[in-house]
Amino acid sequence: MPDLINNHRSIRRYSSKPVSDTLLQEILIASTRASTTGNMQVYSIIVTTDPLLKERLWEVHFKQDMVKQAPLVLTFCADFNRFNIWCRLRKANPGYDNFLSYMTAATDALLAAQNCALAAEENGLGICYLGTTIYNAEKIIEILDLPHGVVPVTTLVAGHPADLPGLTDRLPVEAVVHFEKYRDYTAQDIDRLYAEKESLDLTKKLLEENSLETLAQIFTEKRYTKKDNQFFSQKYLEVIERQGFMNNGTGG
Ligand SMILES: Cc1cc2nc3c(=O)[nH]c(=O)nc-3n(C[C@H](O)[C@H](O)[C@H](O)COP(=O)(O)O)c2cc1C
Repeated sequence: MPDLINNHRSIRRYSSKPVSDTLLQEILIASTRASTTGNMQVYSIIVTTDPLLKERLWEVHFKQDMVKQAPLVLTFCADFNRFNIWCRLRKANPGYDNFLSYMTAATDALLAAQNCALAAEENGLGICYLGTTIYNAEKIIEILDLPHGVVPVTTLVAGHPADLPGLTDRLPVEAVVHFEKYRDYTAQDIDRLYAEKESLDLTKKLLEENSLETLAQIFTEKRYTKKDNQFFSQKYLEVIERQGFMNNGTGG
């Protein structure tokens, strides 16, 4: 298992070889074995294989080609709809229309997604997460007919890899681990912890292509800008509210 985990790389090009139903079933079972809050399983997994639906999803995932290419597109959703229906049918009054419940369900969905990713990789498939799920959640809701109480949280594309890219870099473990209590970072710590990342050939190439001075600027000015972050934050908060997760008892 550690080898499997340590060899993970996101796959963005897929062969046309289909994934068998038996294998898909195995991966889905493994997804449902993830830890889940109170054993409630407040998530749903939408498996999309239909080319027309995949084409519509491709549009809203910023036309990332792997959405059309990979045989499987798996949308993981925070889902209190099923649980609420169960409660009401069993004379129980659900109180899950608040942000805490959204976080609970989103956490469940993400844990199921990562189990799914590991099970897929263990069986020779490649995967890639799609962060674009939360950028265009309202359109995904429409395409996949998601009812009230269901919010898409993340997507995995999966299939047989067309190539095997190299491992990407990571910060040294000491950068992200704190023993006993949080120890804040000095400028010297940051210099040391980011040195390797900043000296990669890939970094140099990116800086040249974008005429920027630092790698951090690639993130703040190109990849994840404040303007985009605020725009998509508002959109996603509206989705969370519309899908019934913002009754937080704060009056009004
Ligand atoms: C929540 C999440 C969203 C992601 N979204 C995208 C995406 O939309 N497109 C993409 O090409 N990669 C996406 N990725 C993959 C990351 O870019 C990738 O995991 C990271 O660069 C590290 O590379 P590795 O997975 O090959 O180790 C996403 C990863 C995560 C965890």
